[in-house]
Amino acid sequence: MKILLTGGAGYIGSHTAVALLDAGHAVAVLDNYSNSSPEAIRRVEQITGKSVNLYEADAADKSVVMDILKKEMPDCIIHFAGLKAVGESVEKPVEYYRNNIDTTLTLLECMKELGLKNFVFSSSATVYGDDHKPPFTEEMTKGACTNPYGWTKWMQEQMLTDAALASEKGSDWKEPLSVVLLRYFNPVGSHESGLIGEDPQGIPNNLMPFISQVAVGRRDHLTVFGDDYDTPDGTCRRDYIHVMDLAEGHVKAAEYAAEHTGTEVFNLGTGNPYSVLDMVKAFGAACGHDVAYEIGPRRAGDIQDSWANADKALKVLGWETKRGIDEICRDAWNWQSHNPNGYK
Ligand code: NAD
Ligand code: UFG
Repeated sequence: MKILLTGGAGYIGSHTAVALLDAGHAVAVLDNYSNSSPEAIRRVEQITGKSVNLYEADAADKSVVMDILKKEMPDCIIHFAGLKAVGESVEKPVEYYRNNIDTTLTLLECMKELGLKNFVFSSSATVYGDDHKPPFTEEMTKGACTNPYGWTKWMQEQMLTDAALASEKGSDWKEPLSVVLLRYFNPVGSHESGLIGEDPQGIPNNLMPFISQVAVGRRDHLTVFGDDYDTPDGTCRRDYIHVMDLAEGHVKAAEYAAEHTGTEVFNLGTGNPYSVLDMVKAFGAACGHDVAYEIGPRRAGDIQDSWANADKALKVLGWETKRGIDEICRDAWNWQSHNPNGYK
């Protein structure tokens, strides 16, 4: 198949490009580089020995997106493009709603006009909110989100579900849509080659890139956000999923979308929770020295526990994770130690 990745130069998009090319699919990427670099795609080509059609463009700009889609006529669009920093979304809600919602609406309008059918969307476990106890299953009702970023995911899921429903009912859509909503848990790690990886701008918001930067000497120490939770070591637990396992989930999702219509939701996680201190210890073992940390106060908006029930993805897509936290830390360290300043 020919697959177009919006935001494909970013962290998850670039790893998915490798997995798709390795599986024999053709890949085109559309990115405005607001949080990435074209160097990531150059390295995707280096890893795979295959070329990618690369477009610098804003996924919300309808006339530009139309031109690209007319040229590519992809069998499937995987929509990664979006702003994703939870804390920043609280300070800049308008920018977050504008960018994240607009890109999805633009893509839907273009797909409708061109008769394109298959769409895979980067959603997040954040849509479960904190109304449920993990493991989270897909049929649980979506909860109240704790920040604008989360609400953009919640709303985009709804917009896509409504569009797929309308397209099935013989409205003015040329084709019934096939929408796959992927709810990621905590993507971490990097490609085994160490050539591509997560390259956050400024101070990392997320745990693993922060630990990596402490380990490589770019930062002094990690602050652990709270050790007074009701968990075995007092720190929060998450479902950390190797980004190449996640990438391979997208290959299965795109192939599934091509064979179906309607909307299907899948959790992409391991089902295994690890605490913040588990991750600090595992990373220390991978990099060969302790990672300095101190205990700080809780971070506003954090939930205590989040992990997936990933049975549906196994049953329906035939997908399950193959890599554990040792591989995650090994590969994250390989990327960070060979690229201490990211792609720069
Ligand atoms: P990322 O920032 O590395 O990648 C997003 C890419 O989209 C970047 O390359 C950025 O330049 C591009 N982009 C943003 N707005 C754009 C626009 N208007 N037009 C074109 N390109 C645009 O983030 P990521 O971690 O790879 O995340 C990919 C997707 O997965 C995002 O939608 C994110 O919300 C979602 N997600 C990520 C996580 C995570 O922890 N990384 C968890 C759940 C969901
Ligand atoms: N943490 C620290 N110190 C840090 C950074 C994080 O102790 O410097 C802790 C957090 O408190 C949390 C855990 O590490 O307990 C994981 O935090 P992350 O920021 O890495 O990940 P979150 O689970 O908070 O958020 C992630 C994605 C969001 C998504 C959310 C829910 O980053 O996009 O999962 O799925 F919305």
